[in-house]
Amino acid sequence: MASFVHSNGDRSLSALIDLDRGLVGREIYVNEDIYRQELEQIFARAWLFIGHESQVPNPGDFVVSRMGEEEVILVRDRRDKRLHIFLNSCRHKGMKVCRYDDGNTLVFTCPFHGWSYDTDGRLVGVPYYDAAYHGELDKSKWGLHEVAQMCNYYGSIWATWDPKAPSFEDYVGAYAPSIRHCFQSTDGADNGVELFNPVVKWRIPTNWKFPGFSFAGDAAHAAMTHRSVNVAAIGPQGAMEGGSRSPMRTPFPSRSYSVGDHDLGHGGQNTIYDQTGAPSHTDTWQTIPEVDEYYRKTAEEKQKRYAGKHLPAGGHGGGHFCIFPNVIIDHWRILPWHPHGVGMTESWRLYPVDRNAPKVVKDAQRHYVMRYCGPTGLTESDDMENWNYCFPASKGTIAQRLPYNFEMGLGHGETDDQMPGLTLNYRISEEPARARFRRWMEFMEAGSWDDIFPVRKK
Ligand code: FES
Ligand SMILES: [Fe+2]
Repeated sequence: MASFVHSNGDRSLSALIDLDRGLVGREIYVNEDIYRQELEQIFARAWLFIGHESQVPNPGDFVVSRMGEEEVILVRDRRDKRLHIFLNSCRHKGMKVCRYDDGNTLVFTCPFHGWSYDTDGRLVGVPYYDAAYHGELDKSKWGLHEVAQMCNYYGSIWATWDPKAPSFEDYVGAYAPSIRHCFQSTDGADNGVELFNPVVKWRIPTNWKFPGFSFAGDAAHAAMTHRSVNVAAIGPQGAMEGGSRSPMRTPFPSRSYSVGDHDLGHGGQNTIYDQTGAPSHTDTWQTIPEVDEYYRKTAEEKQKRYAGKHLPAGGHGGGHFCIFPNVIIDHWRILPWHPHGVGMTESWRLYPVDRNAPKVVKDAQRHYVMRYCGPTGLTESDDMENWNYCFPASKGTIAQRLPYNFEMGLGHGETDDQMPGLTLNYRISEEPARARFRRWMEFMEAGSWDDIFPVRKK
């Protein structure tokens, strides 16, 4: 296949992706029209990750997040304490009603003409209401625009603009237990974490799918891309175990796979446990014994909680995964990739930590994620270097004629009863990425949710 533009001039999206052969047209990463269609067909429809309830513990607390290119405000109502998610755009002339990343407020007062909105979104204050509007403006019709559906899933907050989207649990399917597990503290208690504040945010000059579709889907890059970091031994345990970047893990009967949900588009690197229960802790934090002491105790608690039960395949050493379309979930880092133009991605990092951990543990964990992740972290800056060069090198007239190769492991998928409905492949394969592209295509061509859920209705 020399080009994805067929000889008859067909430029339909199905001409751009051939998953039976593992070929993906570069145009879907660099074409402005396709990008605009993604915002409409995917980001205005899918369930998206917003944040965590620990970011807004008190009445009136708010934090700004994003859905696609647009900013939203997650706020806790100052009266009934319920959570709301509103578009950060004044109903009068569109000014941002909130220009802070987070805080606490009685009302959101627009800086332009002064319309004020309560924390439940109602328009409560309009300057010159009597004199200039003659008391005729129907304030009840001009509240902040709210998402169609919101879900608080064990502390993690998700939302969709589409009232026809299926429930969050139906949307995430087989990955529901893995998400729940990621938001458990290390002792296995549900919703046992809080996030480090503030959220780390920065922009990288690449299309959102480079990170979004390759993170937790491209295990092959690590040995090459991160070679220097492995030598530098930035893991908590220093140079032990060859300087592995991950905390050390107790051996436990298990198998690691790359996994794709070809129905729903989720997937990543996941572990299937062959034994019930949970592993014990292996001393990792060589210079800070209190941290090992804490994690040793929480591991014992977790062993009791999971006695007779299999650990879910994700989080806490069991792997990380993408929830379609644009967030990677693990128990120690959450990675949303927000589209910000066809060639710009706003990359966010949110770091959960055990809510009840002592300060010494939280500090150690925070220092570890800072040297690993984000714009100054050693590991992830390696990744950005690749994605940032892939984008311009794919954009040229000639470059765009050539498809990307996603055939690693094609046709070698298998199944396992512990992850029903999912396709498992050797731990290094492009199975997760192929699943994301399959769902991407379905979203892009769907007229509404009726066409894509229940899946494969056709
Ligand atoms: S734009 Fe907000 S009050 Fe006018
Ligand atoms: Fe990487």
